[in-house]
Amino acid sequence: MSLLETFAEIEHHFRPLLAYLPADAAAKISSYGKTQFIKKYVKDEPDEKVLFSKDQSVKLWDIRFNAPIFNAAGMFKLGKGYNVVAKQGAGAFLAGTTTYRSREGNTKHKVTHPFLPFPRSQAAINWMGLPNPGHEVVAKRLSNIERVKNCPIGISLSYDSVDTKEIALKNMVLGLEIYNKAGVDFVEINESCPNVEGKSVSNNLEPELVERLEYISKNFISKLNRNLPVIVKLSNDTNINQVDDLVRILTDLNYSGVNFGNTSTRYKELEKSIRRKEQHHYYYFYNTFGGGLSGEPLKQTSLELASKAIQSVEKISPTNEFHVIRTGGISSISDIEDSIRNGIKLNQWYTGYFKNFGTNGHKLYKKLLD
Ligand SMILES: Cc1cc2nc3c(=O)[nH]c(=O)nc-3n(C[C@H](O)[C@H](O)[C@H](O)COP(=O)(O)O)c2cc1C
Repeated sequence: MSLLETFAEIEHHFRPLLAYLPADAAAKISSYGKTQFIKKYVKDEPDEKVLFSKDQSVKLWDIRFNAPIFNAAGMFKLGKGYNVVAKQGAGAFLAGTTTYRSREGNTKHKVTHPFLPFPRSQAAINWMGLPNPGHEVVAKRLSNIERVKNCPIGISLSYDSVDTKEIALKNMVLGLEIYNKAGVDFVEINESCPNVEGKSVSNNLEPELVERLEYISKNFISKLNRNLPVIVKLSNDTNINQVDDLVRILTDLNYSGVNFGNTSTRYKELEKSIRRKEQHHYYYFYNTFGGGLSGEPLKQTSLELASKAIQSVEKISPTNEFHVIRTGGISSISDIEDSIRNGIKLNQWYTGYFKNFGTNGHKLYKKLLD
């Protein structure tokens, strides 16, 4: 057991005590602690690659994923940590989200990259604001990675929301080209981060979203001369009645998949999924910073949206290969089984990942899937 695994196990037991701290202190400690933890985490490589007792791999878009689940975007924003998850047996390594220019991320009331977990509710909230060193730096890092078998590399990209529409679109295409050259295996366009300045995430099918999707399709996807699946990540707050239309637009425009989804800003509606003891932290955080809620409260919506998308794909039966990824509230094997039952072949996790690391350390994928 590494020192970090021991630390995470101890921290996992004491984390619920966080609820007894004043909310501002809890936010400061958690935000600082999280940044420090990730810095160590990306270097804490297991000695050997975990082997599952039976093959768990799935092949989609002609790419073999070692398992039906891998990390969600935002965990490895700097593009470091490939060997850690590859040796854990993850389905893939997803780096980013990165933007064209580097971003410092959000700071308010002396809290940098605000993040607060609600361990009793198996949830978390963050208002990090996409801190990242920019496409160029991360692409260079990814291009130097030596692949572990069945652990493809993905990258999540976002628009620079401070730019005008025209510049943001051009820079997104430049970013996609940079990562294409760097040899990544798939890309995910983050259309759903609630934590950046500029306009807020839309949970509806808006003309601007369609315009962006068309631009990327015309200026990047149609010009690709290799297999590079482009997936779009939407919000877990997406209106389910629009899933059919969204999937039709994405398949028409030759995208390769959709991911439901990102964090939620339905603070009031999801309040009941936060335990009483943790609610004062929850109110403090969303009233002070805003932010996106993750974890258990998203389990149902992610399943409903992704399942609906599967049905839409079946109706359309597109000519290009199109898959649905489920993200939100995944933490146990029964969640993966629910996904499989509904035809969802790939999943991502963030909040549940760290909960599982606290109990199972680097064997988390083996413990989950075997
Ligand atoms: C601290 C934190 C940072 C995140 N950063 C990103 C990000 O940079 N890009 C992105 O697409 N999603 C980001 N997310 C959202 C996750 O990728 C995921 O969609 C969401 O947390 C729901 O999954 P979960 O319930 O398994 O956590 C972030 C989530 C958290 C908790």
